[in-house]
Order: sequence, then C-alpha cells, then structure tokens
Amino acid sequence: MQPFLDDIRADLAALKSGGNYRALREIAPEGDGRSRYDGRVLCNLSSNDYLGLAGDAELREDFYRQYNGDWRTPELALSSASSRLLTGNTPAYARLEAALSELYGGRAALVCNSGYHANIGILPALAKAGDLVISDKLNHASIIDGLRLCGAEFLRYPHVDLDRLEATLAARRHEYKRVFVVTESIFSMDGDTVDLRRLVALKERYDCALVVDEAHAVGVRGPKGAGLCAEQGVAERVDVLIGTFGKALGSTGAYAIMAPELREYLINHMRSLIFTTGLPPVVLNWSCFALQRCAAMDRERAELMRLGALLRGWLRDAGRDVPGDTQIVPYVIGEAAAALAAAQRFQERGFIVFAIRPPTVPKGTSRLRFSLSAALRAEDLAPIRELL
Ligand SMILES: Cc1ncc(COP(=O)(O)O)c(C=O)c1O
Repeated sequence: MQPFLDDIRADLAALKSGGNYRALREIAPEGDGRSRYDGRVLCNLSSNDYLGLAGDAELREDFYRQYNGDWRTPELALSSASSRLLTGNTPAYARLEAALSELYGGRAALVCNSGYHANIGILPALAKAGDLVISDKLNHASIIDGLRLCGAEFLRYPHVDLDRLEATLAARRHEYKRVFVVTESIFSMDGDTVDLRRLVALKERYDCALVVDEAHAVGVRGPKGAGLCAEQGVAERVDVLIGTFGKALGSTGAYAIMAPELREYLINHMRSLIFTTGLPPVVLNWSCFALQRCAAMDRERAELMRLGALLRGWLRDAGRDVPGDTQIVPYVIGEAAAALAAAQRFQERGFIVFAIRPPTVPKGTSRLRFSLSAALRAEDLAPIRELL
C-alpha cells in the first residue's frame, strides 16, 4: 500500500503549496444570518440560506407544532428506509409534488434527493448517442458531472453568450437527432443571470430541449419565489426546470418540473432517483412547509435585492463593476493565496467569507463570494465598505 499513500501525500502537498488545500470547518448556525465559527459569532456571508428560513428557530417551532406533540407520527420519521421505487415513496412525496405542481401551473413535479442527484441523473437519462448537449461554460460542477455521464456528445459555449450559442445551433443542429441546451438561471459563482426569454426563443427556433437549473433563483426571484424563469414569464416553455430545497428554501432535496410523460420516463430511467434511498418524511414535510411560507416572502425577496444592489454599489465605488442584480456578489481577486488572505481580513472584521478557488472557479479567478441573506441588515454589512 505504501506507493498508493505516497501518491496521496504528494497530491495533498501540491494542494497546500498551491493554496488550494481544503479542510472541513465546524460552523454552528446561531440564527439571524449568523453562525459560530472559531469561537466567535459572525455574519454568515457564505451560506445559501437566502431568506433566512433554515436558521429561523421560530419557524421550526411552528413546523413541529403542527403535529401537536405527536412525536410518533410517521410524518416526522427520520428515514424512508427504501428507494422511492420500492417502499420509500411515502405520502409526503405526493403532497410536496402536488404543491410544486400547483406553483408551476399544473405541470408535473418530481422530487429528487438533491440538486446534485438531479443534475447527474436527468441529462444522462435523456441524452443518448447521436444527441448533443450544449452547456454554458460556467455551469455548476453537478451539471458537468451529468454531462460526463451522458452517452451524448457535449459542447460548451462562452458564458451567457447567446450569440455564440445561436451560431453553434445554426451550424450544427442538423447533425444531431436531438439537441439539449443546459444552463443555470442565476449563476452560482458569478451571481449573474442569462436572458431566459431569448434562450427559450432560440430553443424553439432550433427545435431543442431546454434544461434550466434554478438552484439559486428558487425562493428569491419570481412570483411566490418560483424562480427566474417564472419572473421572465417563460417557466412553462422550459422543458426541465430544476429547483433545489437546500438553498433559499432552507431544507434538503430538489425538484424537476416538466411534462407528465417526461416525469414518467425519468421514474423509469433516472439512475440517481432509482438507486438511492428516498428522503425522510420529516424533510419532505418541512420542504412543503417552507415552500408555503416562501410564497408569502415578497418583503424578504425585495430586501435581498436591496442588499445585493448596496454591495454592488460599494464594489463599483471601489472600482469594480460586478455584473448581475442578484444576492450572489463575487469579488474576484486572482491568485488563490491572495484570496485566502482577503478572506482572513473579512473574518477578522466579523464575516464568514471564504476564498473560492480552483477547481470550483477557473484558475486565476479565485475570489470571495458574498452570499447574502434577508436575515441580515444593511448595518451588518457596513464594515465591508472599508475592506474593499
Ligand atoms: C447551480 C447548482 N446546481 C445544483 C447544486 C446542487 O444542489 P444540492 O446542494 O441540492 O445538491 C448547486 C449547489 O451546490 C448549484 O449551485
């Protein structure tokens, strides 16, 4: 075994010398957008709890109170103990999928274990040899992993460059049986957005299928927090719309919205749905509860937009123009070591901010990524101005 472990040690040493070594940190949520880290309570600017739902103890109490102290109810069970296709498809799944279907105008909903499971399962189930998948260059790692599992060919187009996408479609659409276009709506590392109306028009003109990952838009954008496709009025024309529960919705899991036949097809072919234990009833019920609360959180959504604009304004004053209008605000620094040093300065001033480094982002674009929460106040953010 020695040579094998020697390779592992060499890899770890290279990560350390390049400033790209990662370690798990213990961070305990304290509510109100704050967490305890390294013995101090700091404003958490690295969480995806955009509406503050995950950290809201009162809300959690409201949720449990619905069960009137009946701790033995199967609705609060902590395991489904089986795949959805065997005995794990508990009644809470049907309720959650019905609530999602209602939110998306009656289209079919399929709940998956996580956004990662959705992305490594859906495209590989759909795209086969003879097909092409075209993906935005900055799509999330889970989408890239899904592409790697596809039998289809894949190409990447420059980030949000729909002219280039159209040129590729015009030149190559005829070579393939089916073409899929896949994008995020709000991009996780850059916090910018894509023109979904134009994308939908393109996919219709070139007879493609469109998959949109709304992981960072669900809960924070659109009517009732249905996402950016809904905000731009095109949700019903997107073939597969993916949302996650683990971010603004303060829970765990994900969903896909689509035509009923597509849902049926995925139940039969999506390996990351079939070959895994379903989510526990307590999680599904909490997701359903969070979805209902989220629908009424327009004030929090507006506050989040206001905080994003404020921070972008400070960055602009410091000579950095950050595209987008979202709750994710990147502060690109360059080399990994410089980003680590900057993160340290922010931590000293009371913020949980970490350096985002390769391979999460391209080499030379290491950054801090401010991930805002409506649970924070503008006053909480004020010290950032002096740190830019
Ligand atoms: C765009 C995008 N899609 C999917 C995921 C994965 O979602 P989940 O955390 O539910 O696995 C993430 C987050 O990590 C993401 O940023």
